[in-house]
Amino acid sequence: MFHSVNDATGPVKMTTGRRGCRANFAASRRGIGLTLAVDAAGVTVWCNQPRRAGGALRPPVLQRDGAFPIVRRDMATHLPVIGGHAEGFGKTTRTDNWRGGPAITLVVFLTFIVYTTWAALQGNHYYVDPYLSPFYSPVLFADPSVAGAVPVSHAWFGAVPSWWPSKLISFSPALLILVFPGSFRFTCYYYRKAYYRSFAGSPPGCAVGPLAGTRTYRGETAALVFQNLHRYAMYFALIFIVLLSKDAVEAFFRDGKLGIGVGSVILTINVILIASYTFGCHSFRHIIGGRKDCMSDCGKPSLALGTWKRATWFNARHMQFAWASLVWVMVTDLYVRLLSMGYLRDLHTW
Ligand code: FES
Repeated sequence: MFHSVNDATGPVKMTTGRRGCRANFAASRRGIGLTLAVDAAGVTVWCNQPRRAGGALRPPVLQRDGAFPIVRRDMATHLPVIGGHAEGFGKTTRTDNWRGGPAITLVVFLTFIVYTTWAALQGNHYYVDPYLSPFYSPVLFADPSVAGAVPVSHAWFGAVPSWWPSKLISFSPALLILVFPGSFRFTCYYYRKAYYRSFAGSPPGCAVGPLAGTRTYRGETAALVFQNLHRYAMYFALIFIVLLSKDAVEAFFRDGKLGIGVGSVILTINVILIASYTFGCHSFRHIIGGRKDCMSDCGKPSLALGTWKRATWFNARHMQFAWASLVWVMVTDLYVRLLSMGYLRDLHTW
């Protein structure tokens, strides 16, 4: 995407090279501030943050200009390349700390994957009356002989079925349900960006050389075929909000008596964060109104417009809710697990 810089007097442009540009404009300290474009008169160098004669920066007004479908090949052929892209994995002319974001993502996401896999395989210590770990909700089948398991009466379909291949893998209720929230997160539009950058290095950052620089782009014929199932994963995610809400409400009742404990609060925050993450989903926003060409109902406010606006609020914070809910769901499972194992004591009013 190219941008041109304009101010009140019209387009600000330079027809000289980098040196002239520096003299008249504030050339980017990060090395990526010089933007090439072409106007009707021929080759033009457009610079970000133009300076006035006295040296003061004029506030640039960035305008999207769809008239510049310039590809690097054209630039190399017809334009003096100023800045450009460095070739090779991790190579860039950026001088900011672009590695920070992908590195933190890698650590947090890897921690989540390792912990979730471990916790799901345990099959125990996922329930302490009245708290149920979100990794195990809903419990379809229960094995009451296991420590920290729900009573069979709490399971949707009773005891562990005889067809479970126990010789291959120990039974764990989480293994039956984690595919739904797992696929929702894995195909999330935001998480795609996160793991493409941090795990696949494809590319590791904007204007940074990708790991597989020479591989042919395969468009929607590769991982995207699976990732496009996101809208269907979203339907299940909506059901999980209802299930987790029920768990949160039940976390305030022990033996039929209303009360509150630290676990009640933790489970409640968990479902609020997961719901906030889900309501900001791009597929959800599309379904509740975004798919319509006209939401205002010919000037009158419509239900679609109202819900779309609310979803837009969550959508604008989708990344934040994605990380907050990811970390908190781990915290919730860990809390229930440590309570069940006897390492923690729950403060409560019962
Ligand atoms: S886009 Fe992130 S959950 Fe749908």
